[in-house]
Amino acid sequence: MNVLITGGMGYIGSHTCVQMIAAGITPVIVDNLCNAKAEVLNRVEALTGVRPRFFVGDIRDEAFLDSVFAQTSVKAVVHFAGLKAVGESVSKPIEYYDNNVNGTLVLLRSMRKAGVKSLVFSSSATVYGDPQQVPITESSPTGATTNPYGRSKYMVEQCLTDLFAAEPDWSITLLRYFNPVGAHPSGSMGEDPQGIPNNLMPFIAQVAVGRRDKLAVFGDDYATPDGTGVRDYIHVMDLADGHIAALDKAGSEAGLHIFNLGTGKGSSVLDMVNAFSDACGQPVPYEICPRRPGDIAECWASTEKARQQLGWQATRSVAEMTRDTWRWQSQNPQGYQD
Ligand code: NAD
Ligand code: UD1
Repeated sequence: MNVLITGGMGYIGSHTCVQMIAAGITPVIVDNLCNAKAEVLNRVEALTGVRPRFFVGDIRDEAFLDSVFAQTSVKAVVHFAGLKAVGESVSKPIEYYDNNVNGTLVLLRSMRKAGVKSLVFSSSATVYGDPQQVPITESSPTGATTNPYGRSKYMVEQCLTDLFAAEPDWSITLLRYFNPVGAHPSGSMGEDPQGIPNNLMPFIAQVAVGRRDKLAVFGDDYATPDGTGVRDYIHVMDLADGHIAALDKAGSEAGLHIFNLGTGKGSSVLDMVNAFSDACGQPVPYEICPRRPGDIAECWASTEKARQQLGWQATRSVAEMTRDTWRWQSQNPQGYQD
């Protein structure tokens, strides 16, 4: 089966391509390379022996997408393409809504013309805002988002919900990721943020490899066991496998399906620092700093629905997440080089 992967050159998309190929699915990639390097395709080929078809272009370009569908006979789309930096979304809301919301609408129009009505969408736990209780289930309240990035994800969820209500022959799966981290266990693929990383794990990895002096821990006065923020970190390989499980369902059943993709376990910032120190064999220097505006105390997933309905659950530990991140970062200290 051919599956179109928008944003397939990015962090989660590239790992998903590798796992798809292993599962006998043929990925077809569309990416405009605004946040990825062409070298990723070489790494996917080296790992799998397959060089996926790759169309360089923008999902907001409808004629381009139409021509991709005309050439590829894909049966489903996994839609990763979008912008994802929370801070940047506050200063560039037009770019974020255009890429994430408008880009999705253009994709949907092009899919409908091509008769492809099966979509898996990359949503985020950010749609839950500051949760009233943990673990978070799929029916927990959504919409109290705090920034344009989060609102763009929530808006797309609403667009897709309305589309399904109007055209119930679609199969639409919303996957709400918790905190994706880790890298391919080979060390040849991983997360390669441009500039100063916003997220915890790539920042720790860059401190450990000597690119940055120390980690700023954003607050140690939360109501959590050690005072630092608690999150549900999920290995990117588990996340990739979750997409394949979702595709099985999305490929076969019309409906609007919503799943959390997390591990169901919370780890604090200091838990992650300590696990990373163990993985790299040296202490990771850090200092306690004020809270980051907009951060929440704790967030982790209920994983029951995905386990029961997709037959999927995360299996990789925090030790594997940190070990694989360190292998990637130490083998590629400057990330992908084109
Ligand atoms: P990423 O930036 O590594 O990958 C996104 C890819 O999309 C990049 O390769 C980029 O070049 C491409 N892209 C962006 N805009 C495009 C456009 N208009 N046309 C074509 N290609 C375009 O990000 P990622 O971490 O792999 O995230 C993938 C998806 O998952 C995103 O939608 C993101 O919002 C969502 N998500 C990510 C996280 C996370 O922590 N990484 C958490 C929750 C949800
Ligand atoms: C952030 C985004 C969220 C997005 C997710 C995945 C915010 C407010 N939220 O989530 O919308 O879906 O990334 O991309 O940006 N931390 C530090 N020092 C750092 C970086 C982070 O102490 O340098 C702490 C944070 O305070 C938090 C934890 O580490 O407690 C995880 O942070 P991060 O990796 O940025 O993810 P989230 O804040 O959960």
